[in-house]
Amino acid sequence: MSVSVKDKVVIVTGAGRGIGRAYAEELAGEGAKVVVAEIVENAGKDTVQAITGKGGEAFFIRTDVTDFETCKKMAEDAVSKYGAIDALINNAALYGIDTRSLFQIPDEEWDRMMNINVKGIWHCIKAVLPQMTKQGKGKIINVSSGVALRGVPFLLHYVASKGAVYSMTKALAMELPLITKANITVNSICPGLTFTQASIDMMVGHEKAIDVNIADQCLKRKEMPDDLVGAVHFLVSDASDFMTGASIVVDGGAARY
Ligand SMILES: NC(=O)c1ccc[n+]([C@@H]2O[C@H](COP(=O)([O-])OP(=O)(O)OC[C@H]3O[C@@H](n4cnc5c(N)ncnc54)[C@H](O)[C@@H]3O)[C@@H](O)[C@H]2O)c1
Repeated sequence: MSVSVKDKVVIVTGAGRGIGRAYAEELAGEGAKVVVAEIVENAGKDTVQAITGKGGEAFFIRTDVTDFETCKKMAEDAVSKYGAIDALINNAALYGIDTRSLFQIPDEEWDRMMNINVKGIWHCIKAVLPQMTKQGKGKIINVSSGVALRGVPFLLHYVASKGAVYSMTKALAMELPLITKANITVNSICPGLTFTQASIDMMVGHEKAIDVNIADQCLKRKEMPDDLVGAVHFLVSDASDFMTGASIVVDGGAARY
């Protein structure tokens, strides 16, 4: 069973920056054909340029995961350009937000959180399923978070959304083979606090929380986007073909259960 991702067609949502961009660049560097599905056009195109500049294969499609029509177009364009969809990485999320108590979360922000982080995943999965069914195989990787396992204060809507992603993964792992009769696997990854621009901005004024977080980890250093790409690479490859409904925690040993 190969751990290679060469020639795999992989859609990465929210690949314009941060961890999604690291997934896109790593997979393309290993020979995958990457669809950069991102709401911010400049950011998405920048990721494509970084990949193609190094001889990799990628294209950008403006995608708003809250808008099912753009998700459908994302899947259609992936198939018309590369002829398949081997894997979907549901990474796009509303993440870089102000921390505040449950009383201060605006109603609109709660709804936007659920729309992007939860409904967005449902949309993208519905969009790729016809092609994965036709292929008889597909891999879906949902990005949850260590906060779904450990909790964190002052981000209630975000934590709730990532808990939903964690649980949806298990339900989808059961349901998709039943409705498609195809070998479609659904797994999630739970990163710990990872140093992207979004988390750096969020932690301004909360520097002590960074030290507390690192103290909780077995490995006493900051987690970086590159720390996550190995697990995702494995989940995209054929080596994980019989693994589904699982969650891989990559957090330096902060959540140990
Ligand atoms: N950074 C961390 O500490 C951390 C920890 C655990 C989990 N995560 C998760 O990892 C993922 C990436 O985190 P990050 O730190 O790189 O965040 P980020 O904010 O840097 O990246 C999110 C990307 O998603 C895109 N996006 C937002 N809304 C979208 C929409 N409606 N449609 C399409 N794209 C959209 C953004 O433009 C951005 O490029 C997220 O799912 C996040 O919840 C992050």
